[in-house]
Amino acid sequence: MAPVVSGFSKLSKTDKIKWLAEHHFNDDVTATDTLITYWNSDDKLQRLHDEFTENTISNYYLPFSVAPNFLINGKRYTLPMTIEESSVVAAASKAAKFWQTRGGFKAEVLSTTKVGQVHFTYTGNAKKLERFFTEIKPNLLKSVAHITKNMEKRGGGVTEIQLRDKTAEIDNYYQLHCTFETVDAMGANFINSCLEEFAKTLLSETKKHHAFSDTEKEIEIIMSILSNYVPQCIVKASVTCKIEELPNTPRLSSMQYAEKFVRAVRIAQVEPYRAVTHNKGIMNGIDALVLATGNDFRAIEAGAHAYASKDGKYKSLTHAEIKDEQFIFSIEIPLALGTVGGLTSLHPLVKLALQLLGKPNAKELMKITSVAGLAQNFAAINSLITTGIQQGHMKMHLMNILNQFEATKIEKEQLIAYFKTNTVTHSEVVTQIEKLRA
Ligand code: MEV
Repeated sequence: MAPVVSGFSKLSKTDKIKWLAEHHFNDDVTATDTLITYWNSDDKLQRLHDEFTENTISNYYLPFSVAPNFLINGKRYTLPMTIEESSVVAAASKAAKFWQTRGGFKAEVLSTTKVGQVHFTYTGNAKKLERFFTEIKPNLLKSVAHITKNMEKRGGGVTEIQLRDKTAEIDNYYQLHCTFETVDAMGANFINSCLEEFAKTLLSETKKHHAFSDTEKEIEIIMSILSNYVPQCIVKASVTCKIEELPNTPRLSSMQYAEKFVRAVRIAQVEPYRAVTHNKGIMNGIDALVLATGNDFRAIEAGAHAYASKDGKYKSLTHAEIKDEQFIFSIEIPLALGTVGGLTSLHPLVKLALQLLGKPNAKELMKITSVAGLAQNFAAINSLITTGIQQGHMKMHLMNILNQFEATKIEKEQLIAYFKTNTVTHSEVVTQIEKLRA
């Protein structure tokens, strides 16, 4: 077991690696070499990456891929996607190509409100707190003027502060429930700074206020933090086509395809076990874009799954229906994204990803990202209700298995040719490699 270490963060990168080698890798040089191999030869670039977080000892590569042919609101996009799962980008590209000849994707932002809360306890009279809050609300707003000044210039700021009585759920528990417009920023730092200032002002105002006796000054701030639940920051995307424009095979007519598709989505509306996987597939597309554009994928994931449960039951984020002989497929999802601040102007690949998208504002990025989710879900359901998922998935995974066995270029060519007409399974690939090498 490694010993307790103090002052680790203050060690140089090389000394950190030495410490790891000694205490975790039995001084095996391969571990050290692997970490160093991934350093960037450009010192300035490496330093930039080192400084993103504490204790950086190397870089962790993920593929930076692109999916072309996305027609969204009449404009063509090539989407940057950062994801390790082999079949995701191919699936997105396939869905984009399918829909570009059927009118493309339509997307609209329905709302952009973000939320933050100051959670506190108060042991005095509730009515008095309400009156006090109404009186000091202008001071709360004034107290953040230095933080909101620039945001207001861009059209954003604090849109509302409410006092919420939560004592029915927890004794003495109240909130300042605050809403914000953060325009093109994801806004986490802006919101949290405002909230901490509100908390300070709330306390200082009670100290000054005549209505509070000494005992009733007992407001305790528990915490001030933004919420990643953003049911008022919603984007909707959809595709529509005539039933006869849908895929068909000798075994499945376009109408049967449409009905099977709608039923598959309906299953994800009523069956949480399916809904989670269904939504995971949506997030394959969304996370890939969120990561590539330097946004916070954990925030997006948390918000999306909470929204999927908003009716008290976890459900599909997409909807499908047949109406007036049209097939309609849509998604409605909360996406609190930013195109300024954070990594957007720091990480060279993030900058490039945003450039690739034509430097979108946050609303445009919300639309593009929701489309990535819808396209991914379309591709997944299309496979699931026709060939099954493994055919496409394993075809893309073949290269991973070949690399795992350190297949040579010639071996790869032969096996790729073989698996064009044979089903890829892990064991079949192993058998074929062994056959080749025998
Ligand atoms: C795999 O990463 C995602 C899928 O399982 C999604 C789905 O089942 O809808 C294919």
